[in-house]
Amino acid sequence: MELTEAIRQRRSTREYSKEPIDKQYIIDMIECARLAPSAANRQPWYFVVLENEKKNKVAQIMQAQLNATTHVLDSKDSATHAYNATSSVKGSIQVIEQTPILILVFRERKEDWLEGDYLSIGCAVEHMCLKATELGLGTLWIRDVVYTRDKIAEAIGYNTMELVTGLAVGKSIEYPYERHKKGLDEIMTWL
Ligand SMILES: Cc1cc2nc3c(=O)[nH]c(=O)nc-3n(C[C@H](O)[C@H](O)[C@H](O)COP(=O)(O)O)c2cc1C
Repeated sequence: MELTEAIRQRRSTREYSKEPIDKQYIIDMIECARLAPSAANRQPWYFVVLENEKKNKVAQIMQAQLNATTHVLDSKDSATHAYNATSSVKGSIQVIEQTPILILVFRERKEDWLEGDYLSIGCAVEHMCLKATELGLGTLWIRDVVYTRDKIAEAIGYNTMELVTGLAVGKSIEYPYERHKKGLDEIMTWL
């Protein structure tokens, strides 16, 4: 598949079949992440692939936190972007329960490299999303894991690192419409 075609076809998908995924596909995706650019070539990422009970444990931790939460999560964002993190977390839990694979992406704890490392990890995750598209797999980037990042990291034994994001991967049973994207005229100026 041409790169531009993969970019055009990629969607965040939230409905997955339980069909197991060929292990080699996940390795191929992480191989693409490995080749991503990174600030100062720090390659600050670490990938943990979860299936079955380990994956479901993540959903359980998120659900327990949600049950114990009385306020709206991330209220600053909610006010400015009409974004309701609580309902997003609910949806993300459902996806984690459905999907056969959840990849958790960690960064080593080095505060002076915070911003560069996050940008680098974003590149790596997008490489995985595009490779998955090429392989005919669906993905959902799940930042919602950050609300329970320490508990999740501890539960799977990686609490020396910071959990940055999750990526659900599986055979998608939906192909969503293309979400609204801003036009070029709205996002760029050529001076
Ligand atoms: C950094 C990042 C974090 C995201 N976190 C979540 C999430 O926690 N839960 C979720 O349902 N979608 C999440 N998404 C998916 C976005 O909602 C989605 O990319 C956006 O609505 C645009 O849709 P598209 O990916 O199909 O173009 C995330 C996407 C990105 C890039």
